[in-house]
Amino acid sequence: MSKLRPTGEATPRTDPLVPGADVLSGRLRRAPENFLTPEEIGQVGKGRRDFLRASFLAAAGATAAATLGGRTAAAATDTAGDPDILNPTPWGSSLGQPVAVNPYGLPSKHERGLVRRQSPGLTQVAAASVSFAPLQGLFGIITPSGLHFERHHQGWQDIDPTRHRLMINGSRPEFVKTPRVYTMDDILRLPPVSRMHFIECGANTGMEWGNVAVPTVQYTHGMLSCSEFTGVPLRTLLEYCGADLKAAKFILAEGGDGSSMTRTIPIELVMSGEVMVAYGQNGEMLRPENGYPLRLVVPGVQGVSWVKWLRRIEVGDRPYAAKDEAVHYIDLMPDGQHRQYTSIQECKSVITSPSGGQQLLDKGFFTISGLAWSGRGAIKRVDVSVDGGINWTEATLQTPVLSKCLTRFTLPWNWDGRPALLQSRAMDETGFVQPAYGQLRAVRGTRSIYHNNAIQTWQVAESGDVNNVQIL
Ligand code: MTE
Repeated sequence: MSKLRPTGEATPRTDPLVPGADVLSGRLRRAPENFLTPEEIGQVGKGRRDFLRASFLAAAGATAAATLGGRTAAAATDTAGDPDILNPTPWGSSLGQPVAVNPYGLPSKHERGLVRRQSPGLTQVAAASVSFAPLQGLFGIITPSGLHFERHHQGWQDIDPTRHRLMINGSRPEFVKTPRVYTMDDILRLPPVSRMHFIECGANTGMEWGNVAVPTVQYTHGMLSCSEFTGVPLRTLLEYCGADLKAAKFILAEGGDGSSMTRTIPIELVMSGEVMVAYGQNGEMLRPENGYPLRLVVPGVQGVSWVKWLRRIEVGDRPYAAKDEAVHYIDLMPDGQHRQYTSIQECKSVITSPSGGQQLLDKGFFTISGLAWSGRGAIKRVDVSVDGGINWTEATLQTPVLSKCLTRFTLPWNWDGRPALLQSRAMDETGFVQPAYGQLRAVRGTRSIYHNNAIQTWQVAESGDVNNVQIL
């Protein structure tokens, strides 16, 4: 699409809470959810992306129209005489619930719309599918474990940890002097490391290669999560087994589920000490959906290499050309050839609020907020544009800013009520700058699935509705 006229300007980075600033004016309606009816979901046929796109867009439009009345009402709310200030509240004048009603704590019932969601019609069966993390409703950089995205090729299992085993062997006997089988008890006794890293499926944003396909950031970018992982460096385990780390060139990681998930990983990544055999996630054991009791953590590399329910590591001297690297997870190029083993997740960012499906209820002050990440190191800088890439303002990076980890950025913005085009553009410590769609497509074409790291645009209409659009 062509560039629209310039619009509300990014607010200079002064304290927004200055006297006279109308900081309460910019209110936001969160993304609508469950906007497809069961009938519409039923009509979604075998991988019919066009239907999917049309039904998403129609549904998003219908929802926006239906809520315009609510917008007027919300804008007219007068806090003078507010009964929630003047009257005793039920929660301030009654006995609360006792401790341990929920032995494992749950989110507030008022937050029940914030859940992982499946994209209707994307896959044939739910056991070989994806659920997307609700990025639009998360703060900071850590994904709550219960909202971590899921990608399973043959469903998830809740494996009995007392029966789980991890075998380490060589493709030739000389590669591993003492092949070993570890129990979970063996692994839990070893000195642990804990590190925060993002995991992104290589197919994240994959539906958007050709055109706008889905309405919200949950579906465009929600195959992305970030946790503190705890475990043992794979290098340490290989050294315990007497692996010949000079002769070895690659390892093969194998999952214990029924999907025959096996992936080749170059030995340099293992030697860096970053690759981890992890059992901990955000201070507790991994969730079953995320590989309990053991998964491989391969920082910076696409999610498919983070083998879950990890049961075997083989040390070898050549790539294994397993099915999930020879025929799947390959990049289709415009000339019909494929790129294999392109596993690093390049520098990328997205504004999570305001984002598609949300609605700005008033003009005035907003905080633009989003996430940036790079598989090659730390984020150096994020620029934000509110006029579709004509002008850029440097955003503030929240600390911590860590290598191969999500980084939260923010920028104060005064919306003047005119159409706006919100974009973020990240740069990592190697100097790599996130490309625009035109730049990415010039090299990669439009028919790929994987590794789409193009700049995302959210269009804010005069009505306040936020929509997914693409700018070349
Ligand atoms: N490991 C096994 N054993 N089986 C799988 O289906 N899916 C892979 C990877 N590891 C998979 C697996 C893919 S494609 C991705 S993107 C990540 O796990 C997703 O991890 P998550 O479900 O914890 O988000």
